[in-house]
Amino acid sequence: MRIGVLGLGTVGRQVVEVLDLERELFAARLGEEIEVTRILVRDQDKPRPQSMRSRLTYEPDDILKDPDIEVVVELMGGFEPAHSYIAEAIRRGKAVVTANKEVIARSGPDLSAAGERAGADLLFEAAVAGGIPIIRSLQESLAGNRLRAIYGIVNGTTNFILSRMHEDGVSFDAALAEAKERGYAEADPSDDLDAVDAARKISILASLAFGGWVDVDAVDRIGIRSISAADVREAKHLGAVIKLVARAQATPDGLALGVSPTLISRSHPLADVSGAQNAVYVCGDPIGELLFAGPGAGGPATSSAVIGDILDAARARRVGGRSVALPLEPAPLLPLHAHQHSYYLRLRVREAAGTLAAVAEAFSRAGISLRSVHQPPSSDDEAMVSLVTHVTAREQLERAREMLRAEAAVLSEESCILAELDTDSQRR
Ligand SMILES: NC(=O)c1ccc[n+]([C@@H]2O[C@H](COP(=O)([O-])OP(=O)(O)OC[C@H]3O[C@@H](n4cnc5c(N)ncnc54)[C@H](OP(=O)(O)O)[C@@H]3O)[C@@H](O)[C@H]2O)c1
Repeated sequence: MRIGVLGLGTVGRQVVEVLDLERELFAARLGEEIEVTRILVRDQDKPRPQSMRSRLTYEPDDILKDPDIEVVVELMGGFEPAHSYIAEAIRRGKAVVTANKEVIARSGPDLSAAGERAGADLLFEAAVAGGIPIIRSLQESLAGNRLRAIYGIVNGTTNFILSRMHEDGVSFDAALAEAKERGYAEADPSDDLDAVDAARKISILASLAFGGWVDVDAVDRIGIRSISAADVREAKHLGAVIKLVARAQATPDGLALGVSPTLISRSHPLADVSGAQNAVYVCGDPIGELLFAGPGAGGPATSSAVIGDILDAARARRVGGRSVALPLEPAPLLPLHAHQHSYYLRLRVREAAGTLAAVAEAFSRAGISLRSVHQPPSSDDEAMVSLVTHVTAREQLERAREMLRAEAAVLSEESCILAELDTDSQRR
């Protein structure tokens, strides 16, 4: 079976290397050889491994229009031209394997429907959580469940930054600089820090898990830029840790979707997922709770998922389609104002008699009860107060925040993020 690879970067190079190296092993497993015959790149001046040079092309049609190439592996990244190349390959009846979450989150259902029409498989295990086999697990192994919720740490960059802040007391800026140095963060890390990347991934997971398409723009997003050393200290005081958690929760009135830095208790299954690791915590019936954890990015982990898809596409040529079907119909969504969560807030307040009472009064008037209030000692005329609410509707939280903004004793709101201090089973 001949395949063409679009892109020879971190992932593409590793994929080609492993396919070349393990040719005999894969041939024995599949009963036929897999051969990478063409590799598309853009930059003619970049040095490339000797063994790959004769297969390079700068012309996408050399792959897309080659009738002998049956599988196209897209590892370029970005939306265009990757999206057009994938669509063209599918139109020509070629199976497509991609790691591109942006294309799948924005155009997955259309591409998957086009694939069905053309009899072309579309596989994207590597698009969410790198090496963790979560797409196929949701699609196949867990298909007999009614899922209640999925919580994911699906962005390695932000998990690395938050872990360094929590475990080693490093500042946000220093942790970000280190993530860049180690190759975990891109030169422009906005998609990671502002939770765009995690929103794409949870929209894909939710679409597979709950049977309706979730538009990525419907995912409520709060990034990690506002998380400070003071929040990390308060989390520790509460026996918690801060993680960027992407969530999709089934409620009787629709799916509640979002990504937010979240205070989770140390006993939560996601609390120990450290550094650039990823994890997906799935809750449903009859399975109960299930944690998938492992390397979520990097050449080796991502190529493991890509190659698994390539072998699957090869097998599918004999036994029928292996496509991951994405639903076209939109999933019913719970409006944001009705989302129910616990929240953590950190306020800068005046150090004066009556301040705490005024803050508590705002929550009480919004109908919110408080789970904990902490005011660390302060020596000047300003103080800090951190609070965790009991579960409350977002619209009530917004009412309380509005009252706090109008309250003279409150100088500023420094943080407002989610708190999930209980596991799924403790909540039920
Ligand atoms: N890296 C990870 O850890 C990771 C993890 C999970 C998923 N992914 C996904 O995997 C995909 C690839 O990521 P990567 O990190 O390997 O990217 P990368 O290192 O930036 O490599 C991209 C490759 O695509 C080529 N390319 C880009 N635009 C092109 C164009 N218009 N025409 C021809 N070639 C083009 C580049 O060519 P030149 O070499 O000529 O510049 C390069 O070889 C992305 O969708 C990414 O989101 C990556």
